[in-house]
Amino acid sequence: MMDELVRFENVWFTYLGNTEPSLKGVSLSINSGEFVVITGPSGCGKSTLLRCMNGLIPHFHGGEFRGSVRVKGVDTKLSSVHQLAQMVGLVFPDPESQLIALEVEDDVAFGPGNLGLPKRDVLERVDWSLRKVGVEKLRHAQVFKLSGGEQQKVAIASILALKPSILVLDEPTANLDPLSAKSLIDLLGELNRSGTTIVVAEHRLSMVSKYSSRVLLMDNGKIVLDADPYVAFTSQIPIDIGVERPEFYPLRERLRRNGLKVDGISTIEELLSAVQKKEIKCVGA
Ligand SMILES: Nc1ncnc2c1ncn2[C@@H]1O[C@H](COP(=O)(O)OP(=O)(O)OP(=O)(O)O)[C@@H](O)[C@H]1O
Ligand SMILES: [Mg+2]
Repeated sequence: MMDELVRFENVWFTYLGNTEPSLKGVSLSINSGEFVVITGPSGCGKSTLLRCMNGLIPHFHGGEFRGSVRVKGVDTKLSSVHQLAQMVGLVFPDPESQLIALEVEDDVAFGPGNLGLPKRDVLERVDWSLRKVGVEKLRHAQVFKLSGGEQQKVAIASILALKPSILVLDEPTANLDPLSAKSLIDLLGELNRSGTTIVVAEHRLSMVSKYSSRVLLMDNGKIVLDADPYVAFTSQIPIDIGVERPEFYPLRERLRRNGLKVDGISTIEELLSAVQKKEIKCVGA
């Protein structure tokens, strides 16, 4: 399960009309099974990077593109957005803007229907993706009557119905309240556990980092740090570029430096529970 799905090689991109490049020499490789979180200050190039993965750049956004992006070995320059959609599913911050039909079932069926699959296969995919996202109950609901969180889950189901190799989400919780955001991020954790490769640009770092295997910190069009969440969020780099570190990581590091055994604890909930059960011991005790 270590196949390389995405490879950026020295990618530079300047939007038409801009003088300053939005990506400045990005090289990156993403393997099957990873859960990658991309973060960084507003305007650092997160959305631009994601648009390169599904071919919106260079096929939809005009500008100057240099370097190469390959998805499953296919150069995005030589492919089309339509072809790439079957490999990379991109979910946007605003759920309403990506829903197409009035009824949930029709919305999820739209993509596979467009692939020209037989009706039976389309329905199978609809069943499968609604189940996968946990919204079977909403099958016959009217899309516009759903909450933002439910709409975002339907948007994810619609994309999964295309069976992409990689699910890419651009701040999927931006328009959600904290509870719906948590539910959506838990869903991403479950999808990843069941094998879906996930790349997500996200600001809610304490919620998402417990599921992620890797954090990419971007600043000014470049990847300035690529590490596991623990290394990324105990480092000084997020502070230097103005990204708030989830409080858990610096806290755990302080406990460790004070001689407490905190190995294997990876969320604040686990830490609290270990403290309550008096499971945390001093090294050597
Ligand atoms: N469609 C566009 N046309 C021209 N310039 C753009 C376009 N989209 C983004 N940019 C510029 O590219 C740079 C990177 O923007 P991008 O949207 O990728 O950043 P971001 O990290 O996603 O920011 P945010 O956190 O606000 O979503 C910014 O300077 C932005 O103004
Ligand atoms: Mg963005």
